Amino acid sequence: MIDRPDHEQQQTAHMPADTNGSTWTHTAPVYSEHFNWNDAGERIAIQQVADEVRDTRILDVGVGAGRTSWLVGLLTHDYVGIDYAPAMVEAARKNCPWADIQLGDARALTFADDSFDMIFFSNAGIDSLNHDDRSRALDEFARVLRPGGRLIYSTLNRCGPFYGAHAGPTHAPGKLPTPYRAVRFAARAALRPGEHLAGFRNVHHNSAVFEDHGDWAIDTMPTHSWSLIVHYITPDAARTEVADHGFDSATVLDFDGQLLDDASLVARSPWFYVLARRHSDSGVQPA
Ligand SMILES: C[S@@+](CC[C@H](N)C(=O)[O-])C[C@H]1O[C@@H](n2cnc3c(N)ncnc32)[C@H](O)[C@@H]1O
Repeated sequence: MIDRPDHEQQQTAHMPADTNGSTWTHTAPVYSEHFNWNDAGERIAIQQVADEVRDTRILDVGVGAGRTSWLVGLLTHDYVGIDYAPAMVEAARKNCPWADIQLGDARALTFADDSFDMIFFSNAGIDSLNHDDRSRALDEFARVLRPGGRLIYSTLNRCGPFYGAHAGPTHAPGKLPTPYRAVRFAARAALRPGEHLAGFRNVHHNSAVFEDHGDWAIDTMPTHSWSLIVHYITPDAARTEVADHGFDSATVLDFDGQLLDDASLVARSPWFYVLARRHSDSGVQPA
């Protein structure tokens, strides 16, 4: 287990802005290779809004190498994907030549107010922002969405298995019994010693900026040899967070697409999906 300072001391530490930029630059080829990945939560989240947003204007934020362009682009011809990493933009343009892919930062969108019907930010991309920048991005999403427009994003679960996980060469939460996990851990460490060592080095190096605020936290995660410093939040805090940024009716789904209203499910999902609607000033929600 990572040795962290206690809760009070961590209030003074802050995740620096853009700390993950170099990871995104270097992993563009990895995202190009892993094009077919998704989970039931992502599929069901899209399915829940599909009829409402079909053929409307959709913004896909943190599009990476274009994995989600193929999914979201099936809903509409009026699709724009943005990413702030030039290497990702280049990869997405190559992988999805039909798509409008632009360089853009979630924290300072260049689009007009009320100009999109849906914003999508999947694969926990929002968690690579620090707490203040996350708030800026949510303000920007509320600004460029029309009243009643839909926001879907996935975010890392402060109550889930990635938070506070052990460093090591694993890329998924363990479902196997502990003895099998131990054997797998040892085998991977022997087969890929470089990755194994990088994981421990990254956790050690980054631990100075870990924070724990109870319902949200800054920590690392297994992906990319634990090189990312990421934001975690509880499902309840995520509901409050979107409400504080001008959104109504947040639904929260786990990675299997099940409603996370049931407290017994909360601990097993490493990330979850937030489906929100921009507050309509008139108070009249679309049908
Ligand atoms: C986990 S990857 C997901 C990529 C893609 N959506 C997918 O699911 O394969 C997160 C992406 O978010 C992008 N990103 C991170 N911070 C961003 C920001 N402030 N504005 C725009 N994109 C950002 C990264 O460059 C990276 O491509």
